[in-house]
Amino acid sequence: MNGQTILVTGGAGYIGSHACVELLEAGFNVVVIDNLANSKIESLNRVRQITGQAVTFYQGDIRDKQVLTELFSKHEISTVIHFAGLKAVGESCEQPLNYYHNNVYGTLVLLEAMREANVKQLVFSSSATVYGESDSAQYSEHFPLGPINPYGRSKAMIEDILRDLSAADSITKSASPWKIALLRYFNPIGAHESGLIGEDPNGIPNNLMPYVSQVAIGKLAQLSVFGDDYPTRDGTGIRDYIHVVDLVKGHIKAIAALAGEGFRHGGCKAYNLGAGRGCSVLEIINAFEKVTDRKVPYQIAPRRAGDLAECYANPELALKELQWQAEKTLDDMVADAWRWQSKNPAGYA
Ligand code: NAD
Ligand code: WQD
Repeated sequence: MNGQTILVTGGAGYIGSHACVELLEAGFNVVVIDNLANSKIESLNRVRQITGQAVTFYQGDIRDKQVLTELFSKHEISTVIHFAGLKAVGESCEQPLNYYHNNVYGTLVLLEAMREANVKQLVFSSSATVYGESDSAQYSEHFPLGPINPYGRSKAMIEDILRDLSAADSITKSASPWKIALLRYFNPIGAHESGLIGEDPNGIPNNLMPYVSQVAIGKLAQLSVFGDDYPTRDGTGIRDYIHVVDLVKGHIKAIAALAGEGFRHGGCKAYNLGAGRGCSVLEIINAFEKVTDRKVPYQIAPRRAGDLAECYANPELALKELQWQAEKTLDDMVADAWRWQSKNPAGYA
């Protein structure tokens, strides 16, 4: 497996930069394409600092077919890990066309370039946000899909496209069928233990963990806890937080699985990547205060539209078929997020 070259789209971003580190450390060559719409090139300098190895970087847009064609002709890519896309739920409601263009059209262009280069192994960044309403708070892969915002729908549309693409192989009896893993992430948080790479959101963060970190460092005055009247153990929302390093290790396991017996005849399969247990907002705040020995001032605010009371993964399929499970604890996630935040108060700027 070592010596293979992996194309990482969106590799300068939060999860992508962590994936670059794990891939390089596992002996892969890495080519990144990123348009830096939501990231800085400094993340890849830091990847080099951590690993002592460099990735080959293309500053470009996945919607630019010419760049992709050139890239596939220059490098012998075995697998693509596709992170590139826009991910802010609120922004997607304001700019649906931008989200569909970047995420759905961008993926179409990438798939065409892959097909032309006969590169047919793909690991796709999907999201737990593709799931629809459910009686159970613990989500399994066979649960019905039903995203409720344009961002989530863009992910579900891409999943549909990828399932159709794979299904077409059995009709055409393709000799080199598509092998596709749809990885549905729950709530990635934390950072590499070096504190050199981490999440660097633009402006005021939407997500809980970066918001809490910025309150703890004094950039933001206080956290608003969105609702304390949910039917949960302490009334606040429960999510399945997963350490970003555990998460990217799941991608390496997925690459191995795509090359293995389970995908010998091709296929497109979804896997939850989550810890399999939930934490409440107040539990996150408590863990943060304990690990950092700082206060996180907060106020109780109204519920945020579109939020579920509770959502966590059934991660059994990933354990069974990818031999992957989350290993790090909530304290690890918080300590690593804090190391990144405190060493880089202004992010990569
Ligand atoms: P991120 O914004 O940090 O990384 C995405 C990267 O893609 C950025 O570097 C951005 O510049 C790049 N990009 C965006 N559009 C592009 C385009 N058209 N061409 C080239 N590059 C482009 O986000 P992240 O948190 O690292 O997320 C990575 C992937 O995982 C995304 O697809 C996201 O939807 C998905 N995901 C993220 C989360 C999460 O909570 N972070 C959860 C579930 C799924
Ligand atoms: C977590 C909990 C909030 C902020 C989002 C996307 C999802 C996925 C991951 C990409 C909830 C509460 C939050 C705050 C709060 N991304 N909260 N105060 O909503 O589970 O998922 O990120 O695919 O698509 O929707 O994550 O971090 O925003 O919220 O009380 O300032 O924290 O209500 O219970 P979410 P989050």
